[in-house]
Amino acid sequence: MSKVEKDYKLSNGVKIPSIGFGTWQIEYGAATVNAVKEAIDLGYSHIDTAAIYGNEVSVGEAINQSDVKRKDLFITTKLWNSDRGYDNTMKAFAKSFQALQVDYIDLYLVHWPATKGHREDWAKVNSSTWKAFEELYKDGVVKSIGVSNFMPHHLEPLMADAKIAPMVNQIEFHPGFMQMETLDFCRKNNMLVEAWSPLGQGEVLKNPDLMKIAEKYKKSVAQICIRWCLQNGTLPLPKSVTSSRIKQNLDVYDFEISAEDMKSISALPYIGGSGLHPDKVKF
Ligand code: A2P
Repeated sequence: MSKVEKDYKLSNGVKIPSIGFGTWQIEYGAATVNAVKEAIDLGYSHIDTAAIYGNEVSVGEAINQSDVKRKDLFITTKLWNSDRGYDNTMKAFAKSFQALQVDYIDLYLVHWPATKGHREDWAKVNSSTWKAFEELYKDGVVKSIGVSNFMPHHLEPLMADAKIAPMVNQIEFHPGFMQMETLDFCRKNNMLVEAWSPLGQGEVLKNPDLMKIAEKYKKSVAQICIRWCLQNGTLPLPKSVTSSRIKQNLDVYDFEISAEDMKSISALPYIGGSGLHPDKVKF
């Protein structure tokens, strides 16, 4: 069986559960509280949120209502784009921290890089944000730090200026959208790649090639996508508000996709998802 452990280890030695529960597009309030509580009950110990999702308070409520101890959970949140720069980052972090009602955060991510398309001094802005991240990490209030949606040309100047290298890069990653150049860069730099929208927001699930492969393994297409992420050494963050799917998406540790099928999945052309490019987004 290809080596897929239930936990990965980050470059700083911190253990991180190898599948996380994604909460993007789950509405704040009861929808998030119920979905996160359900996920924790079904065995997820890793929850991924962000300030911009607007549901941090509800994620916090679910954590507090759960019987699982805080130390057995792994909580990620992200800094939104309007809060870049040292001072704003510190203020935004305080807000997320309060919303989540926790006494530390396991992983804090810069949600999107500032880029040339945004402003001339984009690299300086990213470095100044990162300085705040390093300080939060040194203070111990954040156990690991990383970025999201960064490509190698955003990571290189950040890392040249950084004292502590990012431990994680969370990118869109699913069959038909592998971002190979970024994956290679992160592998070389010992940075764990987390896969947001590992199911291409549900769109890749209708692909006939994936359906055939799923049939062969007696698994769902969603499980094939999640397992394919794991066998690529990435950390999938599937989102669902449906109990049976939440459960199914975690049930992927008992089979292995062959090298040949891995290759053909990896070779699929673009088949849906968001396809957002950090240099082109308007936010
Ligand atoms: P729902 O939340 O209604 O259950 P991604 O994680 O790539 O962003 O994809 C999320 C989308 O995929 C949501 O629409 C979610 O629907 C759907 N989804 C999640 N898990 C499964 C599954 N196992 N089977 C089918 N659809 C799923």
